[in-house]
Amino acid sequence: MIKVLSVFGTRPEAIKMAPVVKELSKFPGEIVSQVAVTAQHREMLDQVLDLFHIVPDYDLNLMRHGQTLYDITAGALLGLKDILTQEKPDLVLVHGDTTTTFVAALAAYYQQIKVGHVEAGLRTGNKYAPFPEEMNRRMAGSLADYHFAPTETSKKNLLRENVPEESIIVTGNTVIDALLETVGKEYCLTGLGLDQVNWKKKILLVTCHRRENWGAPMARVFQAIRKIKEMRPDTEVIFPVHKNPLVRDLARDILCGTGGIHLIEPLDYQPFSNLMAKSYLVLTDSGGMQEEVPSLGKPVLVLRDTTERPEALEAGTVKLVGTDGEKIIKETVQLIDNPHAYHEMANAVNPYGDGKASGRIVRAILKFFRGNSC
Ligand code: UD1
Ligand code: UDP
Repeated sequence: MIKVLSVFGTRPEAIKMAPVVKELSKFPGEIVSQVAVTAQHREMLDQVLDLFHIVPDYDLNLMRHGQTLYDITAGALLGLKDILTQEKPDLVLVHGDTTTTFVAALAAYYQQIKVGHVEAGLRTGNKYAPFPEEMNRRMAGSLADYHFAPTETSKKNLLRENVPEESIIVTGNTVIDALLETVGKEYCLTGLGLDQVNWKKKILLVTCHRRENWGAPMARVFQAIRKIKEMRPDTEVIFPVHKNPLVRDLARDILCGTGGIHLIEPLDYQPFSNLMAKSYLVLTDSGGMQEEVPSLGKPVLVLRDTTERPEALEAGTVKLVGTDGEKIIKETVQLIDNPHAYHEMANAVNPYGDGKASGRIVRAILKFFRGNSC
């Protein structure tokens, strides 16, 4: 039996690991699958655990309001030490680029436990953008034994860093597995704080939370969004606001009270994925949404200067607009007013996967370990 401990802590990791956890459970004769959550996020993590019926074996319950990178790093490292000492898994699976990801990989390495990195190999090349995710994923990658790269581009990034080719498997991104399971034509979006939305108008879906955008850049983004709504009354803005108080206070200060701008609580993943599918366009600094929205055929304006996800950029459905107010307004208004510009971008492209990434990951794990035991 191979004992696999999946460790995650935030909303996006949970969404992207849920299909992997489900897949691991399909091999009860070969794999013992356990889940440990750091709960670096609390409510936003629990929303996903509930949706995918995941009951963690361990929950470190770390989240505190105003937590710093030091708090999460130290708390997760010590908490995971005890879990790993007790369980002695054969493999620790981590996902992506959060502080939980890096620390879980480090904790496993300290006990010489093998590490599998899901969504490996994404890079911007700038260690402060996104911050601290670029370094989290690079450090997790250095510690990992097995690298589940979503695309050929991410595999090439790893090869450039001299990661052995035989330890890299191109799998697609598990977010597409999760998305295909949750988006449905008939999904009804009533309730959810969306009752005042005029669905006949063009829906602009907004999310924004990145650390490097906190403060002045985020204020510019929100001011631009308010201006766009005032300039184009045929739009409605829906903004499920991240739980971080720094984001919430600023969003409330700048956007509250503008008619047609709906600031709502973070949505459960299923309504949210169906809201993405119903939107006219998306403005976001999220990593995961740069993968999801292109596959739904909607344009994405990315509120960042760099991206580690160049594939959809190359396919033309994603554009980087940064946090300059004028640029955000210009690009958004062009997509609202100009059907040609809109249709140029609104193509369903799927460079990130076919919904079968988790199956590939689990088959590769079985092969790696059977190979090792031969
Ligand atoms: C974290 C990740 C980031 C990821 C993002 C996804 C790090 C350093 N950052 O950033 O990579 O893109 O999650 O959303 O790993 N909060 C709640 N309830 C929740 C979640 C958060 O109240 O369910 C509030 C808390 O006050 C918390 C704050 O948000 O202190 C910040 O959470 P934290 O995980 O430190 O940073 P994020 O910006 O969410
Ligand atoms: N998401 C969600 N509810 C929301 C907003 C986002 O379920 O109200 C999902 C979204 O579809 C994506 C993930 O959360 O899969 C992105 O999370 P976030 O933007 O917090 O993190 P990032 O992707 O930037 O790491």
